[in-house]
Amino acid sequence: MGNVKISIIYYSSTGTNYQLAKWAEEAAKTAGAEVRLRKVAELAPEAAIASNPAWQSHYEAAKDVQEATSEDLEWADAILFSTATRFGGMASQLKQFIDMQGGLWAKGALVNKVVSAMSSAQNDHGGQEASILSLYTSLMHWGAILVPPGYTDPALFGTGGNPYGASATVNGEGKMINDVKPAVEIQAKRMIDIAGRLKNS
Ligand SMILES: Cc1cc2nc3c(=O)[nH]c(=O)nc-3n(C[C@H](O)[C@H](O)[C@H](O)COP(=O)(O)O)c2cc1C
Repeated sequence: MGNVKISIIYYSSTGTNYQLAKWAEEAAKTAGAEVRLRKVAELAPEAAIASNPAWQSHYEAAKDVQEATSEDLEWADAILFSTATRFGGMASQLKQFIDMQGGLWAKGALVNKVVSAMSSAQNDHGGQEASILSLYTSLMHWGAILVPPGYTDPALFGTGGNPYGASATVNGEGKMINDVKPAVEIQAKRMIDIAGRLKNS
């Protein structure tokens, strides 16, 4: 049966969701999983990226992160998504990736994948929950198995307490202002645990 395989797939303009994904990668490895960390393709024009120094700088810094493909979904037992919030929904870059998976969906290759999502926004209530829920709607169409954190660990109460998925708030300078790392770790570990039980049952 082997170790649980998890793909962590994110979209980040200015590094927050990259950081969430890195924390999840570390936690999943500690939990004994095989991990693929992948970004979705950037779709914004170069001029838009260049107009925001924080975006340009993260764009350069993440150049070496591999881009997600359908094979990363097919390979995985568990898939954890992370997306910046855009007007209360997931980033279009991630939606584009999701919408490219018709082929996998048609052959049932996404059925029973253990899935979950994380997000960030500039305000405490700026749409993290809505972004995660918009992703979950698509993932339910896949026949995937949602494994949100809920309130399964008391430590979640100190992290913002979003039961749908770990959620960061960033200030105007792009700095995370809530202590969301424990929520990311709990969410990733819970996914590995549940995926492991399914895999080995
Ligand atoms: C076009 C656009 C729309 C945004 N919409 C929201 C929003 O609805 N609510 C909010 O709190 N922040 C919003 N933000 C702020 C982003 O969510 C924030 O920059 C992002 O979560 C940071 O994540 P990243 O560093 O991974 O890119 C928006 C930003 C952009 C560029």
